[in-house]
Amino acid sequence: MDFQSLTLFATAAFSLEGLVAAELRRLGFENAKAELGGVRFTGSLLDGFLACLRLRMADRVLIVLGERQCLSFEDLFQFTSSVPWESFLSLDGQYNISGKCARSQLMSVSDCQSICKKAIIERLRRQKKVQIFPETGVPFPIHLSIHENKARLCLDLTGPALNRRGYRTWNGEAPLRETLAACLVELSPWRPGMPLHDPCCGTGTILIEAAFRESHRAPGMSRSFACEAYPFFPVKEAQELRARTISEYDPSRITQISGNDIDPQAIELAKRHVAQASLDTLVSLSVLPLEQLQLSAPEGVFLCNPPYGERIGDKKSCAKLYRHLHDLLDRHPGWSLCAISSDPDFEHAFGKRADKRRRLYNGRIECQFLTYLSDDKKNRYHWNKG
Ligand SMILES: C[S@@+](CC[C@H](N)C(=O)[O-])C[C@H]1O[C@@H](n2cnc3c(N)ncnc32)[C@H](O)[C@@H]1O
Repeated sequence: MDFQSLTLFATAAFSLEGLVAAELRRLGFENAKAELGGVRFTGSLLDGFLACLRLRMADRVLIVLGERQCLSFEDLFQFTSSVPWESFLSLDGQYNISGKCARSQLMSVSDCQSICKKAIIERLRRQKKVQIFPETGVPFPIHLSIHENKARLCLDLTGPALNRRGYRTWNGEAPLRETLAACLVELSPWRPGMPLHDPCCGTGTILIEAAFRESHRAPGMSRSFACEAYPFFPVKEAQELRARTISEYDPSRITQISGNDIDPQAIELAKRHVAQASLDTLVSLSVLPLEQLQLSAPEGVFLCNPPYGERIGDKKSCAKLYRHLHDLLDRHPGWSLCAISSDPDFEHAFGKRADKRRRLYNGRIECQFLTYLSDDKKNRYHWNKG
């Protein structure tokens, strides 16, 4: 296999593919192209590692090993056998195959996984003349996906998903996935240097993701990736790349990121996460109902993930809270406000139509990301649009 010229695929949550494609293009992968479930781009193995280190909004980075139409188990066996596994798998490796099938003739995921495994082992037996595969060595996560009868086999470079930045070890009631929080930061009108405040910050995910961005901290900077254990991994170049990435991190850039929550336990967790991200003196947190919040900065962005009120009894209290968010915005005329909510009545309860709205998924929950721009930003927005 030519590790200098690979087809790579950054997987992304449904509705976030376009954002990840733009992120990859900013990283220099000009041919990054969004598809259902992710973004295809080309590069070397080191490029794949760079994507693991730096992507804020993607879930995983994979090497695409092959794609082929498969209508039967025999097709799948032949397709899997055609991949040159012997050129990159260690013979004592653990070949862990995960699978998903959708809208295809082959729909039994477990059967497809077994067939792939059998085809890999048979090919290795044939090519390497070995009989025993102890599966005690390096894990090689292999992904099989079949969509509309097209099978794709990939080798995972990431290991545990990219949202595992390492700072979140305690979950609150309804924490936001780190990658989605990074998307909200990206979609909001907030830009580094401006004040950002989350008035119902829960365990602090939005604040930490904004602080990472403001300080030029690559989200994968302090964690390892599956590919680093692969025998063909360019260790020295990757160490240099990681060192360069670390040297770009400048926490002194973080100046005005803060949050509050009504729940003291949530703030306790947020403080732990902020400390685990080594940001404890840089992000300020307080226990406070947003109804009492008054900030002194003349302009900035409120960015939040308020409760959605999925249960009937909660609906009323959420509607009240959304109205209080409107009051909060009225008390801060130079500020913009963005909120993600699955509640279709959000704007009605808030009491005003949003200036911008975008459909997003929080896991499987369909949500709207609503933006209320400050008058100043609104003028600029219309001016730019015009
Ligand atoms: C969906 S959670 C936020 C989760 C957060 N994004 C995270 O990643 O952990 C909503 C938060 O709103 C808080 N909340 C509810 N009512 C509030 C109020 N009146 N003032 C401030 N916070 C409130 C809850 O305590 C909860 O932590």
